[in-house]
Amino acid sequence: SSSSSSSSSPSHNSTQQRLPGAIIIGVRKGGTRALLEMLNLHPDVEVAKAEVHYFNVDEHYRRGLAWYRAQMPFTVPGQLTVEKTPGYFAAPQAPARVWDMNPAVRLLLIVRDPAERLVSDYTQVLHNRLTRNKPYQSLEELLIRHGHIDSGYKALQRSLYHQHLARWLEVFPREQIHVVDGDALIRNPFPELRKAERFLDLSPRISPNNFYYNTTKGFYCLLSAGHDKCLDESKGRPHAPLSAQAFKKLCRYFRKPNKLFFEMVGRSFSWC
Ligand code: A3P
Repeated sequence: SSSSSSSSSPSHNSTQQRLPGAIIIGVRKGGTRALLEMLNLHPDVEVAKAEVHYFNVDEHYRRGLAWYRAQMPFTVPGQLTVEKTPGYFAAPQAPARVWDMNPAVRLLLIVRDPAERLVSDYTQVLHNRLTRNKPYQSLEELLIRHGHIDSGYKALQRSLYHQHLARWLEVFPREQIHVVDGDALIRNPFPELRKAERFLDLSPRISPNNFYYNTTKGFYCLLSAGHDKCLDESKGRPHAPLSAQAFKKLCRYFRKPNKLFFEMVGRSFSWC
């Protein structure tokens, strides 16, 4: 992590920007920022602070690997570079492009109850519209057409995890993708971080003492080298309202897709 790298760096000339050894590919609103910041607690990890959007945005991809590398943090040999761009998961071109960069790269996918994720996704778009003084439809208007769930709604499609994962599994072996339980990460970060360390072949350096529950925020915050850090207010904000009836419809809608996803990853989640 950034605090320890400067002090542990053996020499200046070995410090350079390197391509990532691991990428958090999604899902959008799954807890990608929390996972990245928490991995960054590890002394052998350095992260790209901003989302890079290299493999999903053609204009960036055309700039080539030199541009991509230039977005990465400075590291010493032995440190793992990690970037997160939630847009990769649903981008059709991303899997093959990531493979071309490094077929051995490790992929992290953090998932969350797809109905909750959808509401979180809508809430983010709504917030962005309102801050630019633009009106926006209610979630119910976007989600329900003639009494039925509108399967064309983009935020709904981003919650169809099995469809997107299927494209990654056409390119990468299952073992190369580690699935993080985003709901579990919210409830208690440490166990999910320990599993991620193991997947990334990192020594177990993140500890329960790196986390404390902040009652004001209602979420866990990070502690490292005496510094106290919560994610910003856009993470963990109140969700836009949705009627209980519509939410129930949504849960019913996701039943089949969820089952397909569970089969694909070989485990299940207690989603609605
Ligand atoms: P909500 O704002 O809907 O609660 P992402 O970083 O991928 O956009 O994900 C945002 C989500 O991360 C938040 O969604 C929140 O639930 C979740 N999250 C997980 N751990 C968190 C933490 N420690 N602090 C704040 N948000 C956290």
